[in-house]
Amino acid sequence: MPSIEKIVIAGAGQAGGRAAEALRSAGFRGSITMIGEEKHPPYERPQLSKELLAALDAPVAYLKPASDWTGVLDVTMITGAAVVACDAERQTVATGEGEIFGYDRLLLATGTQPKRIKTLEGASAQVHYLRNIEDAVHLRQSFHRQVSVVIIGGGVIGLEAACAAAKHGCDVTVVENQERLLARAFPGLVSEVVEARHRNHGVRFEFGVTVAAGTTNGVRLTNGAELKADIVLVGIGVEPNNAIARDLGLSADAGIEVDAFGRTVAPNVFSAGDVALQWSKCHDRALRVETWANAQNQAICVAGNMAGGNREYSDPPWFWSDQYDLNIQVVGDMLNADHVVRGDCQSDRFSVAAMRGSEIVGAISINAAKEMAMLRRLVARQSKLNRSDIESTAYDLRQALKTN
Ligand code: NAI
Repeated sequence: MPSIEKIVIAGAGQAGGRAAEALRSAGFRGSITMIGEEKHPPYERPQLSKELLAALDAPVAYLKPASDWTGVLDVTMITGAAVVACDAERQTVATGEGEIFGYDRLLLATGTQPKRIKTLEGASAQVHYLRNIEDAVHLRQSFHRQVSVVIIGGGVIGLEAACAAAKHGCDVTVVENQERLLARAFPGLVSEVVEARHRNHGVRFEFGVTVAAGTTNGVRLTNGAELKADIVLVGIGVEPNNAIARDLGLSADAGIEVDAFGRTVAPNVFSAGDVALQWSKCHDRALRVETWANAQNQAICVAGNMAGGNREYSDPPWFWSDQYDLNIQVVGDMLNADHVVRGDCQSDRFSVAAMRGSEIVGAISINAAKEMAMLRRLVARQSKLNRSDIESTAYDLRQALKTN
């Protein structure tokens, strides 16, 4: 293997930060340059729609104290500068400020950005997106009693923000263009539980429509209805930051395609985190996994490979959402499978397993974190299970772990 002296990480988010740490843990002693567009060193993003919306004085959770990046890990950290170009032949990247860095290995951990709604540009209401610390602080500062908040998108961002806004006494309406909430990852019966909990807290819903335009006092929906809005939050999903991947000759429309080791087809270029498109065993297709756990664990694995390791990454996707008193955790693929309920789905605590034949390919838990810890392991092992066992809460899932 040619000697690796210089590693550049494009993107200083969760994936970039964990990769830098993992490179040192793997024994890499050469130079690491991490370049991030935001002015902050790496921080945790789940807090943006949770703690940071709950309280103005919530501390920001950084991956580590700023001084540790240089002082402990010997990483050259460049913040507030985006990588805008890459040259595959010369093995260089360039920032918007015109600085050029050579690499022996490059990690693309550029993440995603919120999809925007152009028809809202020029609306009289304040229009918010939620992707970084400034967005969260700005949004939190706008939540006051009786402020009218219209949220476009009934996914994780929209619903966690709805929860925070309702707790601050805002008047909240969620506009979701599907016929139910969280349709991208949740089975219908869990969508119903979540919707009911929001309605109990006064949140209203408009399903099967989207926003058509801003009006003088709010928004008009595609069905002609008008909603008063002081604030509009758009949470309709994200798209990959893939422009520099194209410079490297990578076709990256759906994400930057990587193999099981995190390698792209461009020599010495790897990718991890939200932007990386990788085969998922439980989904049986390639996908970008937009979760905190993936940004961390995939990046650690890929960084090890950049430093000379040879480990496949195959963790099933896992994420959680906190809404009111509901802790919801999801692993694997909940769609394209049969659903087997474990516990009472009318109660505040139950799980649902997703089965394809006798294989468990996904699971979702409501206030059942301990059970989820076992379900995650079963999904990761592609375990074969009897549906009647899963249905019976008397059946201890630890038994299944012993035989799978
Ligand atoms: P999302 O994909 O979870 O939800 C977007 C929702 O908007 C979907 O329900 C979709 O049907 C709806 N939608 C799409 N276009 C629409 C339109 N034009 N009008 C109305 N509704 C529309 O994406 P979201 O909530 O924006 O989250 C962004 C990212 O943040 C995701 O990658 C998500 O995984 C991540 N995230 C993760 C969390 C976690 O791990 N707990 C928490 C919060 C966000």
